[in-house]
Amino acid sequence: MLSLHNFKPKIGNVTRNRAGIVTLKQAIKKRMNSRIRNLEEYHKAYQESVSQPEKFWAEIAAEFSWKKPWDKVLEWNFRDFNVKWFDGAKLNITENCLDRHLESRGDQVAILWESNNPEIHGRQLSYRQLHTEVCKAANMLKNLGVKKGDRVCIYLPMVPEAAVAMLACARIGAIHSVVFAGFSAQSLADRIHDAQCAYVITADGAFRGSKSIALKEIVDEALQQSPSVKKVLVLKHTAQPVHWQEGRDCWWHEELEGCSEHCEAATMDAEDMLFILYTSGSTGKPKGVVHTTAGYMVWSAYTFRNVFQYEKGDVYWCTADVGWITGHSYIVYGPLLEGATTLMFEGIPTWPDAGRFWQIIDKYKVNIFYTAPTAIRSLMAHGDAFVYPHSLASLKTLGTVGEPINEEAWQWYYDNIGKGKCWVVDTWWQTETGGIMISPLAHITPAKPTYATLPLPGIQPVLVNGQGEEIKGNNAEGNLCIKFPWPGMLRTTYGDHERCRLNYFSTYENRYFTGDGCRRDFEGNYRIIGRVDDVINVSGHRMGTAEVENAINEHPHVIESAVVGFPHPIKGQGIYAYVICDHLPQQPEQRKKEILEMVTKMIGAIAKPDKIQFVSGLPKTRSGKIMRRILRKIAEGDTGNLGDTSTLLDPAIVESIRDGALQ
Ligand code: PRX
Repeated sequence: MLSLHNFKPKIGNVTRNRAGIVTLKQAIKKRMNSRIRNLEEYHKAYQESVSQPEKFWAEIAAEFSWKKPWDKVLEWNFRDFNVKWFDGAKLNITENCLDRHLESRGDQVAILWESNNPEIHGRQLSYRQLHTEVCKAANMLKNLGVKKGDRVCIYLPMVPEAAVAMLACARIGAIHSVVFAGFSAQSLADRIHDAQCAYVITADGAFRGSKSIALKEIVDEALQQSPSVKKVLVLKHTAQPVHWQEGRDCWWHEELEGCSEHCEAATMDAEDMLFILYTSGSTGKPKGVVHTTAGYMVWSAYTFRNVFQYEKGDVYWCTADVGWITGHSYIVYGPLLEGATTLMFEGIPTWPDAGRFWQIIDKYKVNIFYTAPTAIRSLMAHGDAFVYPHSLASLKTLGTVGEPINEEAWQWYYDNIGKGKCWVVDTWWQTETGGIMISPLAHITPAKPTYATLPLPGIQPVLVNGQGEEIKGNNAEGNLCIKFPWPGMLRTTYGDHERCRLNYFSTYENRYFTGDGCRRDFEGNYRIIGRVDDVINVSGHRMGTAEVENAINEHPHVIESAVVGFPHPIKGQGIYAYVICDHLPQQPEQRKKEILEMVTKMIGAIAKPDKIQFVSGLPKTRSGKIMRRILRKIAEGDTGNLGDTSTLLDPAIVESIRDGALQ
């Protein structure tokens, strides 16, 4: 493994070797430079990132370990959507997450793990131990037949082995596709099928508060529809009995035995796929967002470093699950790339009681805490009595992610958790963006409640109006787009590049469209208002309305349904389903129960509608399009003025739906 200063540049090829000519001394200086220390440095970095993006990113990338430098920093066009960062470079991300730190911090804790059960001792893995575990697991995967480029589905609880499994895949060049362990067998099967995974890594079960979930059973059910799967590697965690299929199933601990602690890291191209992560869109089934190796590495590390201002020795805790992008970028890759101590928690915030988060913060003396507004609102609703017994004195930075945070929750977080002395960073980003895009930098950017504030260096946001024109100037509102590539952006959606191009790059020419509505204030701070497409955000989880409708429609007595979001005091948005059945149900409560069961079966409990209203028709235009605007208003309880309904095929249906909603 080499650092860039070891490379001999080829004379006469300046672009190719811009990074190659960085000397060790310069690289160390640059390393200092890429950590932004104050607002002036932020503005300077931002300007540089816009005026000389290739130079800017080459200098940051020079801090990592590469097996070969890049030929070109950036190549892009948004028309066909083709983006390449650091093309021609060779590297392995795990050498940057692990090997690179062994000398300087081999004995420092890399992963701290807190069990679901507070009575059970947690675990910790130093960088050296994690390196060993990853190498052994990588050899285990090789022994099972996993090869470079194979897709491996990971369906695990929040245990250190989830991170080990991801890194072991990356070590040998396999592509991981982590599926959140709350998804149903059907969702899991869909994702396994789409990525054509030949291997699944799971556990016997998962603990979640007082419950235990039979993960292996869910996998078994999913695999009835997944002929692509050759092997299932099972981690013994809950020790519950499992069904066993000889020849296919194998135990993690048995396979690991005798595996060597040395595993040469596969040489990967900068643009080789690192992982696939499924996320919901406004149409069809969830799509497999693809992130590639080098750009994602640079972006997740750079954003982690600057947004959280992590200092050596800090304990950092992100409460997300590794099944979501936040877990990928800010539990595993970002923190490990930066040599941080990252805490993983298996359980839930409200078990054994609503003080669990705060108890854990005191137990590990957490300095940086990153969670979702839904968790804040829910814990706020449980009352301050759960907070006060805990000192929380170690905290210095608080983060939020996943959904808009309302002012009341922001203030409560700041006052009661941060005790008025912590920086709050409201970080806006998406599965597709790979890492944080708009956010204050802790202890640097003045915070403004409910605002994600300023774009990170490298991010060029624009607001676009209904006609597709860029809205220049401040104090404006529009659809949020990004007009220049950044290293961590998605490269495609697995198996369907055209779908990716259409989804993100066809609405507005030459721009990535985020799907979010956004406001820019007088000072240029950004506030994300919410989705403007048919995606709803429930407890920070992204859900396509079409996906929920398809699940509801699976019920044999359902003819059609329409799903919209409505404001929910804890979840941010709740799910409201208007359902047409073949006959108006005689026992509506029973039918509702069946529909909820169907959604749980098809997607998972997170997609269960909060309200179901049986209707006799839906407000459709003459061309057959459902007018969701009207349904949203009714769901919000705003039935006074439903706007123009004259273009509807049957305007009378609106009144009947409204009357039904009021009952
Ligand atoms: O609507 C935005 C919302 O979450 C969406 C992205 O969801 P997902 O891909 O699941 O990633 C979530 C974690 C990064 C966005 O389109 N969102 C995310 N962060 C914020 C947010 N909305 C408001 N404020 C945020 N800080």
